[in-house]
Amino acid sequence: MYTRANLKTLMLLRAVRWIRAKVVQKVERLLLRILAAGPVPKHVAFVMDGNRRYARLHHQHINEGHSEGFTTLRRMLEVCMRLEVRCVSAYAFALDNFRRSPEEIEHLMNLAHDKLMEMSRHGQILDEYGVRLNVLGKTSLLPGHVQEAIRHVESATKNNNKAILNICMSYSSQDEMTTAVNSAVRLSLEKSNPDSCEITEDDIDAQLFTTLAGSPPVDILIRTSGVKRLSDFLLWQCAENTQIHFTKAYWPEFGLWDFIPILLDYQRKIWSKRIL
Ligand code: FPP
Ligand code: MG
Repeated sequence: MYTRANLKTLMLLRAVRWIRAKVVQKVERLLLRILAAGPVPKHVAFVMDGNRRYARLHHQHINEGHSEGFTTLRRMLEVCMRLEVRCVSAYAFALDNFRRSPEEIEHLMNLAHDKLMEMSRHGQILDEYGVRLNVLGKTSLLPGHVQEAIRHVESATKNNNKAILNICMSYSSQDEMTTAVNSAVRLSLEKSNPDSCEITEDDIDAQLFTTLAGSPPVDILIRTSGVKRLSDFLLWQCAENTQIHFTKAYWPEFGLWDFIPILLDYQRKIWSKRIL
C-alpha cells in the first residue's frame, strides 16, 4: 500500500528523472551541433560486435543482445544524421553467420524482418531524416519473408535523398569483390572484343554493392567489443584513407560518448592535413 507521502516522493523522483533525461538530451544535441560545424565524415561504417557477450554479462538470453543491438543501430543512425553524416553502413549478418545455430539465425531473421518493416513506415527514422535504405549482400540466401521486407523498405525509401543507410546482410567483402569483378568482365565483354577485354580498378569499384548503392568512400570504420579484425567487411572500401577504430564497448552499450573521441580524432587529422 502506498501512503500519500510515498506517492509524493515517487512522483517527485519521476519528475527529477524526466528533467535529468531532458537536460542530457539537450546537452547531447548541442554537442552534436558544435561537432557538426567541423569536418564531418561522409561515410561511417560499423562492425556491430559483442551482442552475445553483452547479453551474457547481463544474464540475458543472447536474442536480447541482438535486439538491444538493433536499438543501438537506430541510436547511432540518429547521432550520425544529426551530425549530417551522409552515409552509414552496418554489418548486420555476415555470410559466415549462416554457420550459427538455427535458433539464433531464426531470431536474427525475424528481427531483421520486423525492424525493416517498422523502419519503412512514415514518421519513422528513415522518413524523418530522408534516409534511403539499401540491403547489401547475397540477399537470395535470406528467407523469403526477409527478402519481402527488403523489397518493401527499399521501395518505400527509394526517393529519400538526404542520406543512405546500408545494412549489410548475407554479406562478405570477398563475395562482393567477386561479384563486382564478374559484372565488370561481363560489361567489358559487351562493349569490346574478347581479346582486348581489360579490367581496371575503376571498373571493379564501379560494380561494388556500395558504389551501386551510391555510397561515398568509407571515412571511419568502427568495430566494437575489443576484437581487432575486419572480418571480411568493406575490405576494398577501406583500402585508402579510412580511419579504423577498435573500441572495447560491446555494441549494445556503444553510444555518443564512445563516438565523440573517434570523431574528434577524425577532425584533428583533417585539420592537421589542411594546415600542413
Ligand atoms: C555480432 O555480435 C552481431 C551480429 C552477428 C548481429 C548484428 C545484428 C543486429 C545488431 C541487429 C540488426 C538489425 C537489422 C535491421 C538487420 P555477436 O553475435 O558476434 O556477439 P559476440 O561477439 O559477443 O559473440
Ligand atoms: Mg562476435
